[in-house]
Amino acid sequence: MKRIGVLTGGGDAAGMNTALRAVVRTASRMGAEVIGIKKGWQGLAEGSTVKLTPRSVSGILHQGGTILRTFRYPEFATDEGTAPVARTLDKLNLDGMVIIGGDGSFRGGTKLTREFDLPVVGVPATIDNDIPGTDISIGFDTALNIAIEAVDKVRDTATSHGRIFVIEVMGREYGLLAAQTAIATGAEEVLLPEIPFNLDDVCRNIAKGYQRGKQHAIIIVAEGAGKASYISYEIKERLQRGVRMVVLGHVQRGGSPSGYDRILASRLGHRATEMLLEGNHGVMVGVVANKFKTSSLDKKTKVSAKAVLRDARLMETLV
Ligand code: F6P
Repeated sequence: MKRIGVLTGGGDAAGMNTALRAVVRTASRMGAEVIGIKKGWQGLAEGSTVKLTPRSVSGILHQGGTILRTFRYPEFATDEGTAPVARTLDKLNLDGMVIIGGDGSFRGGTKLTREFDLPVVGVPATIDNDIPGTDISIGFDTALNIAIEAVDKVRDTATSHGRIFVIEVMGREYGLLAAQTAIATGAEEVLLPEIPFNLDDVCRNIAKGYQRGKQHAIIIVAEGAGKASYISYEIKERLQRGVRMVVLGHVQRGGSPSGYDRILASRLGHRATEMLLEGNHGVMVGVVANKFKTSSLDKKTKVSAKAVLRDARLMETLV
């Protein structure tokens, strides 16, 4: 009987549990045993594992977070951090591993293959949607919808008071979540890590908006573009007008996965497991133009900013 491992790594994303369920149930149908690695790469170092059966993943499809948990483990890049991983792998005697996570997790996966000859298949899951080789990653749709719901609520009170709001959304290096939140909520401005901005211009646009009869100004700022506290202070100073701020932060990472994420995670978890057990590994399985697409795990480069720039242009056109 084949024995595979499954691990969730990096920041959690809604739908990780759904993908995990699909991995376990697919493997079981294909006659393989599944070992869950708890706490991501750190758990692999500690030998923290659990046997997963089709029944043990009952009732998790709709749950946010990851029942396996996920810890950051930068030590895996060092020899000291790798040695305990080697010991665990020796004991587990796995035939392969499905890795559910982002680019950092896939770098770990590549290391498992290179240094321990372990076949791996990756499933893209991160709210940032910054993984090349897939149109969308598990968790992005849910995070986007959480941000939209929050901004819609803020907008009600912003309009009532005629206020300016700066709303910070997640995305340290990649601004797609911010750009799409801005389009979907009709925000007045979006500040992104990919596009340099000038706060004098931002203030001029806000002032013009009020002159045109707007009743509020919503400025979406990606975490990586600047702190909402700084930006709101600067705008208040320049315009001498009340500015409030909201930092959505980790609220966007939690909660029940959207319908879209549930389907995506079920499909990707299932396909990744099939591929691993059929001997097709060293790849991430994503979705491009509504079809499964595999891409090499060890050739993952930084995602292009094209999609962010396109959405930022659209948002500006529609203001
Ligand atoms: O998982 C991606 C992400 O949520 C980014 O959007 C954010 O910048 C980062 O993780 C936050 O990481 P942490 O939870 O470790 O603070």
